[in-house]
Amino acid sequence: MNDIISVADYVDGKRLWQRLMELACFGATVKGGVSRLALSQEEIAARAQLVKWGQEIGLEPSVDRASNLFLRLPGTEPHLPPLLTGSHIDSQPTGGKFDGAYGVIAALEAIEAIKTSGHRPRRSIELVAWMNEEGARFSPGMMGSAVFTGVRRLDEVTKVRDKTGISVEEALAEVLAAEETLPRRPLGFKPAGFVEAHIEQGTTLQNEKLTIGVVTGIQGKRTFRIEVEGEESHAGTSARANRRDAFVSAVAIVQALQNAMWDPDDTVRFTIGMFTVLPNAPSVVPGRVVFSVDLRHGDAETIKRLGDALPHICKAARGTCDVNVRELLYDIPLKFPASMRLLINKVAERLNLPHREMPSPAGHDSRYLNYVCPTGMIFIPCKDGISHNEAEEITPVDATAGACVLADVIFTLANAEAE
Ligand code: HGY
Ligand code: MN
Ligand code: MN
Repeated sequence: MNDIISVADYVDGKRLWQRLMELACFGATVKGGVSRLALSQEEIAARAQLVKWGQEIGLEPSVDRASNLFLRLPGTEPHLPPLLTGSHIDSQPTGGKFDGAYGVIAALEAIEAIKTSGHRPRRSIELVAWMNEEGARFSPGMMGSAVFTGVRRLDEVTKVRDKTGISVEEALAEVLAAEETLPRRPLGFKPAGFVEAHIEQGTTLQNEKLTIGVVTGIQGKRTFRIEVEGEESHAGTSARANRRDAFVSAVAIVQALQNAMWDPDDTVRFTIGMFTVLPNAPSVVPGRVVFSVDLRHGDAETIKRLGDALPHICKAARGTCDVNVRELLYDIPLKFPASMRLLINKVAERLNLPHREMPSPAGHDSRYLNYVCPTGMIFIPCKDGISHNEAEEITPVDATAGACVLADVIFTLANAEAE
């Protein structure tokens, strides 16, 4: 990797923090977090603000059919594949101000620093805000980066519906209609590389008093939908012996899963985050229960073993009901290329920022970009590791440091010899 030209001095931490606070107003909650679900009105408004900031500094906006949003800084050799940097601005229903948003606003700040420096990159640099990373409204998540990289087909994800019955197709049409003046671009291409800055969503950096995490990879993740089918009956008249109570069976299945997923060294991440009882009426024996499973682990064999056992555990514990297990996602543990990690380490070193290599327990769009181009991630600390929670917090100093590292990394990559 050729020598690093530093543009970090042109990063403006105040401007970065101001934009983070302004973006957090879109979907702001009373407890100080954000609820900015994918393809929602709140996200449409936030995207318009992002486009406005980009155009104010001369970046060219565009959007693809999956509504991935791009802001382009043209390079001196615009025919070369561009370097991408960014993250997502959709949030969990009770999310924080910084999950995803930090990576998008830090990317905007890094690009503005490059512009201000007067240096022009060889390759164009494009900020990207990926569609539906969180998967809270439409599951599974990371839809925008998945269709961009060919991991999923657009006509597959557009069929997914949210709990009110609205499809991705219908919600997508609303976003694209709101952005009808933005130039369209083809869906997917091979970037020169992708770099994502993100909050750690853990406590390693805070505990070790470090500023920068050089992300080595992302743990494996498997998600499922478990449907338990019983029979609705009268709470007062149906005898226990004759009931096919879907709730009772679901509780037995959950307990059996919890027991199977329990591990003494607490490395398995097993979560049931969504649990629906139907018809959800006090005097009706539940006829149907649907719940989610989010299973994660850093070891490929472990996540295979536990995920493969899951349907059998559900069937064995179902009692008098039927159970259907659908796997939505199977992402194996991945490693980012050493070349990317080496560069991020070198930049953090040059900027005298305390740093370390570390894996990401959380999922990110970088997973899918890593399938198609050299990809790297930069972490900054977040207070007590709190995330997917309205109390999520970072400091302006760490936010600025992360943007400085990002700026030098993307500028170096944008000028690297074509491989
Ligand atoms: O769930 C995740 O790991 C990501 O924050 N969406
Ligand atoms: Mn995120
Ligand atoms: Mn998240």
